[in-house]
Amino acid sequence: MQDWHIAITGGSKGIGAATANTLARQAVHLHLMARNQPKLDEFSRSLNAKAYSIDLAKPEQIAHVMRSIGESSGGRLDGLVINAAKYGMSSYQDLTPEMFRAYLDTNLVASLELVRCAAPLLKAGQGKSIVMVSSTLALRPVPGTAAYAASKAGLNNLVRCLALELAAESIRVNAVLPGVVDTEIHDPQRVSDPSRSEKMTQLAPLHPLGRVGTAQDVANMIEFLLSPKSSWMTGSCITVDGGISVA
Ligand SMILES: NC(=O)c1ccc[n+]([C@@H]2O[C@H](COP(=O)([O-])OP(=O)(O)OC[C@H]3O[C@@H](n4cnc5c(N)ncnc54)[C@H](OP(=O)(O)O)[C@@H]3O)[C@@H](O)[C@H]2O)c1
Repeated sequence: MQDWHIAITGGSKGIGAATANTLARQAVHLHLMARNQPKLDEFSRSLNAKAYSIDLAKPEQIAHVMRSIGESSGGRLDGLVINAAKYGMSSYQDLTPEMFRAYLDTNLVASLELVRCAAPLLKAGQGKSIVMVSSTLALRPVPGTAAYAASKAGLNNLVRCLALELAAESIRVNAVLPGVVDTEIHDPQRVSDPSRSEKMTQLAPLHPLGRVGTAQDVANMIEFLLSPKSSWMTGSCITVDGGISVA
């Protein structure tokens, strides 16, 4: 993967940052996307990566950013990791159509638009791999996750459809479905919420392997799906979840 160009959404924190760190060790040229520019710039500098500020809730920004990535990569991309997502919990009664659409825009509409805009670059690259980060909640939802879980279930079938359509170009499309992973996504949303470490302690025993995941656990699978070691895999939705989806 040396000298490959790989773009990662949500590349400044959590699973995206762990993936970037892992790929940097392979001398990959990284293109990292996120909203918070100072945080993204600081992290990108530490890896000598290019930084692109974007809000995926506004899919109309994607074409512009992909053009910038193409300009800096010489018109090619070897891998695309669609990792950033909107996460939150609320009961179905509180979910207005606007709120529901906000999950679909960031998690689903933006994912398709990223692929549409990146496809010409991926066709010109060597790696030809797209990895989307879904969730085990797409398979086994829990109450309060209707919008998020529905968006991730949609993402799984988007992966399968795109795998079929892009196979003609030898571009592979796969998904990773993490269980609970200890990242900032679990920081309390309301004052009444338990702290992140309390949440992790409560959630660990739900995983047969007895612990929540680390961002590195998921990054390892993303790296594999980007690499030629997975060259006969496409349309796969792989759980990396300590066994929670079969418990
Ligand atoms: N952690 C878990 O337990 C878990 C479990 C299953 C699946 N996942 C999935 O794993 C992926 C990564 O989550 P994580 O746990 O690593 O979360 P995280 O630590 O909160 O990181 C999220 C990343 O996405 C960026 N981001 C968020 N919203 C964005 C937007 N609208 N536009 C552009 N960038 C955005 C964030 O940067 P900015 O805030 O600066 O934009 C950050 O870089 C998500 O798809 C999530 O659904 C996580």
